[in-house]
Amino acid sequence: TWTAANIAETLIDQVREQVGENGLAICGLSGGVDSAVAAALVQRAIGDRLTCVFVDHGLLRAGEREQVQNDFVAATGARLVTVDAAETFLTELKGVSDPETKRKIIGREFIRSFEGAVSEVLGDRAASGQKVDYLVQGTLYPDVVESGGGTGTANIKSHHNVGGLPEDLEFELVEPLRLLFKDEVRAVGRELGLPEEIVGRQPFPGPGLAIRIVGSVDAERLATLRKADLIAREELSSAGLDSTIWQCPVVLLADVRSVGVQGDGRTYGHPIVLRPVSSEDAMTADWTRVPYDVLEKISTRITNEVAEVNRVVLDVTSKPPGTIEWE
Ligand code: XMP
Repeated sequence: TWTAANIAETLIDQVREQVGENGLAICGLSGGVDSAVAAALVQRAIGDRLTCVFVDHGLLRAGEREQVQNDFVAATGARLVTVDAAETFLTELKGVSDPETKRKIIGREFIRSFEGAVSEVLGDRAASGQKVDYLVQGTLYPDVVESGGGTGTANIKSHHNVGGLPEDLEFELVEPLRLLFKDEVRAVGRELGLPEEIVGRQPFPGPGLAIRIVGSVDAERLATLRKADLIAREELSSAGLDSTIWQCPVVLLADVRSVGVQGDGRTYGHPIVLRPVSSEDAMTADWTRVPYDVLEKISTRITNEVAEVNRVVLDVTSKPPGTIEWE
């Protein structure tokens, strides 16, 4: 019979079999559900022979880094290496406002940071004659179907070449979730003791807050958006709307200003857009009818608590024609 406990046991056994008694593995954590559950399973199977790598690109939401560094590690006991790459990402993104250019830069820098960390881990272990042969990925069944199936190997080109490592590092993939759907992954994650904030997390794009700032990205704009986003998440959660809403991008229109009045003075600030959507798979979406009193609370709090923001607007566009994200 299908229970999360049975599935977890079976998957852990399979990983043990694949990686063997001495194999070493690496896993990139994104902060999302899939990579966290995959890593937790592999950790159960091979313990410290797994190293998790988390790249903090500085485009995360409030509390996300802490969730990985503290809660994930506390729940799993996994070995974690965090890469502080915020400064590099911000430098590379400076002055860039085109969405696809932002994505390209972030993708490129992400791979560089990840490789740097992997090279270091590999360098340490290579010194003692060990090899890291396995790369863990949180691929789900829908991803497998979409990409035509088949297991494979992954190639990481090393830019850094730390400690005399080969230019091209080749890994065999470990994909313990490849036969599961999202709700099954969540059930397995709960079974493994992962906190609800991780297993229940709504989708969040890899490029993070960078594609939720319409305009160029800088530290100040990120701080503004991070505050507004946290308020929206807090209020939607405490209104019990987490499972009604698929995800709710909070977007800063950094190049738009409007006149407002706050206290005694006239302000000239930026609008924040709330984009709550309901969806099954993100291919299509409907705008969520969030109760007015909840919207009011969010709007009041954001305009009171976030300097620079003097207006909150609601996106009432379905997908299609609008995408879920603004960029
Ligand atoms: P759109 O905006 O295309 O988004 O309706 C559909 C889903 O994909 C997410 N999304 C991304 N995820 N990298 C990601 O990892 C990206 O560049 C990206 N762009 C959009 C979006 O959050 C939604 O869940």
